[in-house]
Amino acid sequence: MGLFNRKQRLSLITFAVFYFSLFFFCRSNSARDPGSFFFQPREGYRPSYTLQRIHESLNFLSRFNQTAAPSELSAHRNDPSVQHADICIGIVTVKRPLQQKIETTVASIVDNLSQAQRSTLAIHVLFAQTTPSTHPSYTQPWVSNALDRALTYDHFNDTDISYLRRLERSKKFFAEKSLIDYRLSLQSCLDYTDAPYFLMLEDDVVAQRSWYLTTRQAIDRIETWQKRSLLSDWLYLRLFYTEKFLGWNAEHWREYFAWSLLVVVAVASLALSTRRVTRSTHDLLSNSFLLVLCFLCVPLLILLYFASGRVTVQQPMKPGIHFMNRHGCCSQALLFPRDQISRVMTYLQKMEDQSKPKPVDTTLERFANEFEIDRLAISPPQMQHIGAASYKEDEKKWRKGEYPVQGAHGVWSMQFETAYESVSADGVVVDTLWP
Ligand SMILES: *[C@@H]1O[C@H](CO)[C@@H](O)[C@H](O)[C@H]1NC(C)=O
Repeated sequence: MGLFNRKQRLSLITFAVFYFSLFFFCRSNSARDPGSFFFQPREGYRPSYTLQRIHESLNFLSRFNQTAAPSELSAHRNDPSVQHADICIGIVTVKRPLQQKIETTVASIVDNLSQAQRSTLAIHVLFAQTTPSTHPSYTQPWVSNALDRALTYDHFNDTDISYLRRLERSKKFFAEKSLIDYRLSLQSCLDYTDAPYFLMLEDDVVAQRSWYLTTRQAIDRIETWQKRSLLSDWLYLRLFYTEKFLGWNAEHWREYFAWSLLVVVAVASLALSTRRVTRSTHDLLSNSFLLVLCFLCVPLLILLYFASGRVTVQQPMKPGIHFMNRHGCCSQALLFPRDQISRVMTYLQKMEDQSKPKPVDTTLERFANEFEIDRLAISPPQMQHIGAASYKEDEKKWRKGEYPVQGAHGVWSMQFETAYESVSADGVVVDTLWP
């Protein structure tokens, strides 16, 4: 340290103390950011709001769960062949190895709705088992009381049950079967409702309390933007996403590098000009001190910035509606405008017949990329993935995990857990369109 005078040594020690405090602050501040170096799964995947929602919605559904449910609770259904609705909700459900979550999904969709609001929804659930009675929920009383349509393969004319049975037997054909099921679910909404929007949910999501109002508001906004030509063709509005894929992106390394360089250059020039202008800083800002400043202190700060994770430091998902043409994952909750549906169905059918079909989310992204259609996402997410284990995962994976909510092991939204703590029943304001 003979290199430095007393003033410089003091500055470096101050920096070290400051840096250490900052480091520990960032470490705890980024514990929940999956894109951060400081991510701690135990913190990041801890469910809180989700547990509340599961609990309260199941409580609500249990009132439907009797053979004679009170009539004011029952689904709006006077059985015309085409039901009038604003949103048709299509859910495909299969039997899961540990626990069924479809109850929670349906319950959390309806539990805070008025009768008038409920009557604007058509809820169609496809029990996608060739023998539906093997699905533990199929015979429960709430199914006929809370759903507008409980579907099985028998409801569709053109399904080949023996072929589906073959797909069902082997997990190798999981993707193909999931494409067929998704298409049939869309088909039901298309044929039996006049709804202008289709909300396709997986059977293991939970909705936030005021998802209905927020989503209606978002739809209104989108329609306004379309009228004003601020928005053209869009494929879907995403009601669930995970922050996992929104972090720093290797493709953008040049941009990150350039910014970092710019910061170093800026600090260096600031220090040099200060030294020239202010005589009294001469003994502090010596050449060797500047070297340490620019090539050690500043890079350390930049490193900390990146280590903290993009979602934490840049907060890219401000409340509102965002374009999400890339890095949107997965297909847990997507709202489609009706006029896209026939195109989507044709594409799904084409992909089913390919030798190696991809799962639904990949197929939809391919479709949108091929036809260059925008995809939107609403922030904060309206749904959380509570992740029922599926037979396509290996057993080891779904047996482990410290939280009762299984989705809490990857496909998970951190924002969902904190976003609704202080939100009033009117929902979140969604009148901003983010690039
Ligand atoms: C509905 O009732 C059945 C028994 O009739 C029970 O097994 C099931 O857990 C109940 N489900 C809910 C959501 O209350």
